[in-house]
Amino acid sequence: MTEPASPKDPRHHPSGAPWRNFYGRVHGKTLRPGQKHALEHDLGPLTLAGVGWADNPDRSPLDMADFGGRPVWLEIGFGGGEHLVHMAALHPQVVIIGAEPFINGVAMLLGKIREAGVTNLALHPGDVRDLLDVLPDASIAKAFLNYPDPWPKARHHRRRFVTPGHLDPLHRVMAPGAEFRVATDIPDYVRQTLEEVPVAGFDRIEHPMDVAWDDWRSTRYEHKALREGRAPHYLTFRRR
Ligand SMILES: C[S@@+](CC[C@H](N)C(=O)[O-])C[C@H]1O[C@@H](n2cnc3c(N)ncnc32)[C@H](O)[C@@H]1O
Repeated sequence: MTEPASPKDPRHHPSGAPWRNFYGRVHGKTLRPGQKHALEHDLGPLTLAGVGWADNPDRSPLDMADFGGRPVWLEIGFGGGEHLVHMAALHPQVVIIGAEPFINGVAMLLGKIREAGVTNLALHPGDVRDLLDVLPDASIAKAFLNYPDPWPKARHHRRRFVTPGHLDPLHRVMAPGAEFRVATDIPDYVRQTLEEVPVAGFDRIEHPMDVAWDDWRSTRYEHKALREGRAPHYLTFRRR
């Protein structure tokens, strides 16, 4: 089983190369026995081989032929996997890769995959940047960033996904014309997204920000935002 990245875990620094900082959570509440079982048995077959992590010398470029010529989509930080499984079920003609370092989220997703019986999914249970490193140019036909970590303090804004360190590699792996969707409940995240994503080579597709996509499935974080009185914003871009 591929281990999720953790800056506190010295096993992830085999070469002593500089660590790529990941500031989010990797572990949460103790996993239930059923979740542990799913991680042990279901995760391995779904995990993309060869992604590893930034300082792993054994990583190799992904061979997109392994996806059988189907369009490949990417969900960044799928959390509990509601949207990922919904999309996989709704769009059986594509393969969707999900990246998520929070192992409790991965365990939740595995439960949902079993329930839904979807098979057109592949996983990277780690930092999406490690996955972007090994994806070929123009290999992704659509990407989703749903409720990315908000990092509300100004001095942490550079940790947000909508910064060049994340957006430039995303731009490289996306096909020209491919759609990039961002959902967030944080007005300042909307501001930064509208500023930074076009600079990284994406054009905004104009539509009302309060109208969700036709095939949208609300997520745990969207439910939380609505409960707490924050409005969702939906932004769509096209890779230039
Ligand atoms: C606020 S949660 C939203 C989860 C889910 N998309 C939803 O809407 O419920 C943000 C998620 O992004 C994940 N995340 C943060 N940095 C990431 C990275 N570098 N690569 C992949 N996922 C990341 C976190 O672990 C977390 O699960």
